Amino acid sequence: MFIALSGYLCELINNKLNMRKIYKTARQLIVALLVFSGIFLASSCEKYKFKPVTISPTDSVFFQADLQPVFTATCILCHKGTRNPDLRNGNSYTSLTTGGFITPADSTSKLYVKVNSGHPASLSDINRQKILLWVKQGAHNN
Ligand code: HEC
Repeated sequence: MFIALSGYLCELINNKLNMRKIYKTARQLIVALLVFSGIFLASSCEKYKFKPVTISPTDSVFFQADLQPVFTATCILCHKGTRNPDLRNGNSYTSLTTGGFITPADSTSKLYVKVNSGHPASLSDINRQKILLWVKQGAHNN
């Protein structure tokens, strides 16, 4: 009778201890999951926030492929020959470089200063960034 009772008690205690262990492990798992998902969410937020508005400074910017389409779409409405600089396809590079709109590899270039002062209002951040990078990369006719 005594042996049976102590056996039963032991089992009860063991079970209780096991349950505690299981709770503890489960709690640790949940905390770890929360921490990982927090890190994951934070890093994906950062990606989303910065990707659309920046261009890597190591990316090459090409005058014909990157800038001329912007000039054609947003500038030649007014800069089509009579107003300096002439930004039409085929004339733009010569007009910009001989007209004094590019100070070699420098952000004080008239072209960059002008588009950075809200002229024209519709030019996006990324396109202004492209102009600056192109100037800094040597303003090549590439
Ligand atoms: C709605 C007409 C209009 C549009 C569109 C326009 N410009 Fe102009 N731009 C002007 C006028 C007018 C001037 C002269 C007055 C002034 O400096 O604001 C001028 C002046 C400039 C100058 C300075 C010229 C100088 O001799 O100092 C630059 C550089 C220039 N624009 C670049 C651009 C670029 C690049 C775009 C397109 C991204 C653009 N403009 C779009 C009307 C326009």
